[in-house]
Amino acid sequence: MATGLILAAAGRGERLGSGGPKALCRLAAEPIVVHAVRGALSSGVIDVVAVAAPPDRVDEVAALVAGEAEHVTVLPGGAGRPESVAAALAALPRDVDTVLVHDAARCLTPPEVFAAVARAVDEGAAAVVPGIAVADTIKRVEGDRVVGTPDRDTLRAVQTPQGFRRDVLEQSHATATGAVTDDAGMAELTGYPVRVVPGHDEAFKITRVVDLLLAEAILARRAEYAQRPRPEADRP
Ligand code: CTP
Ligand code: MG
Repeated sequence: MATGLILAAAGRGERLGSGGPKALCRLAAEPIVVHAVRGALSSGVIDVVAVAAPPDRVDEVAALVAGEAEHVTVLPGGAGRPESVAAALAALPRDVDTVLVHDAARCLTPPEVFAAVARAVDEGAAAVVPGIAVADTIKRVEGDRVVGTPDRDTLRAVQTPQGFRRDVLEQSHATATGAVTDDAGMAELTGYPVRVVPGHDEAFKITRVVDLLLAEAILARRAEYAQRPRPEADRP
């Protein structure tokens, strides 16, 4: 039995406006898709990877990630994210029984988030999402009128990787219809319970230019931290 990672990397990155697909946009000299694969594998909980790439850039993405993972397949994504995830799901080997679905755009997600999501599925959860507290007050609106203020303590901003038993994800993709924006939403609509585990601030999604600036700052801080001399006692 094995754990597979689906990396949704086929989007056009229109809001980022970098002139090409977001997964190929460079961050500290490396494409976002490379950061994403490397970060996910550093968790040590992933056996195989299926990357949904922009259909006209499959070979380029395959060449970029080939050196990062031993068992990696790159395939053309679909018109929308759900189609990209479904295509990658079909490409995972049959012995994969736990699937983590991840946005390439959340390429700085720390390894402990992957580990926590995989652990929750191992412990028996059908579907798992990382969630963080919402910093802003959220209003429900109709047109320009506020019609409600949900209690912020009951809200979570949901991230990826989202984890599933494979049969749950397959059934959810086969049955859920309508405007569901995430895979856990599909599982929820299909009737499965969805468990929440702690997410992480650094699992944010690079969507706009301001997110790219934040990502560059985080990578610079990580590089600085990695170079800092460690006390004698910590050395191997
Ligand atoms: N994605 C995908 N296939 C699609 C659309 C999106 O695999 N047809 C992926 C993106 O590559 C991204 C993740 O889903 O990693 C989240 O989507 P989003 O942040 O919306 O990325 P884009 O669709 O690329 O950006 P935009 O909506 O601004 O065009
Ligand atoms: Mg999009």
